[in-house]
Amino acid sequence: MNQLLHQRYPDYEAMSNATANIMAEALRQNPKLTLCMASGHTPSRTCELFVSIIKEDKIDTQKMRFIGLDEWVGLSPDNTGSCQYFFMEKLIKPLGLEPEQVFLFDALAADLNMECLKMDALIQAHGIDLMVVGIGINGHIGFNEPGTPVDINCHVASLEPSTVQVGQKYFAESTLLGKGITVGLGQLMRAKKLILIANGAHKKDVVQQARFGPVDPMFPASIIQIHEHVMVITDSLT
Ligand code: GLP
Repeated sequence: MNQLLHQRYPDYEAMSNATANIMAEALRQNPKLTLCMASGHTPSRTCELFVSIIKEDKIDTQKMRFIGLDEWVGLSPDNTGSCQYFFMEKLIKPLGLEPEQVFLFDALAADLNMECLKMDALIQAHGIDLMVVGIGINGHIGFNEPGTPVDINCHVASLEPSTVQVGQKYFAESTLLGKGITVGLGQLMRAKKLILIANGAHKKDVVQQARFGPVDPMFPASIIQIHEHVMVITDSLT
């Protein structure tokens, strides 16, 4: 079993800075980096600091690829709570990434299965060099909810009530959420490097369970224990 590397930082700013620096270094070393990243409150500051480092150090972003980890099905990219809105505002626009460098799920597509197949083909062709994910309170990663098969590729998932409830925090008004579209656990397992980030006391128990609990599909994040190259980065409360 893999020895999980856990880096604990004093606070959210420090853990975000550490994560951003690892991402920037990965891009410095590999200008053709394929980065797959989660949206949400945890990676928010990481993205801002990543953009600052890239600009300050003049790191080339023209050859990188960006994959958005997941999206709420049925949401328009204009919705400020959508993952796409987050990626556009936090990374894609500030970095000036061109459309051909960016791969996001279209959550309004008539054929969501086709959206999954397109993303599967892209990941199959290029692989994921670096994947930066958060963790949900039920142990989900992306929208890989409890019970998701560990070898699954991109898929549409029915969301657990807790995911729907917690998800309201991203929206200015109550929003109907039911399904998510996501990169799958099989693709996460094949990512060359995986970083799981979490902060706050409310994530302490789930991070503990992911790191030390039984490896169990009913707690998807526990799969990190068998990833070849994984790092867990948290603040001191987690
Ligand atoms: C959401 C997303 C995940 C995210 C997680 C934690 O439901 N689907 O991709 O990592 O929950 O989000 P946050 O960082 O806002 O706590």
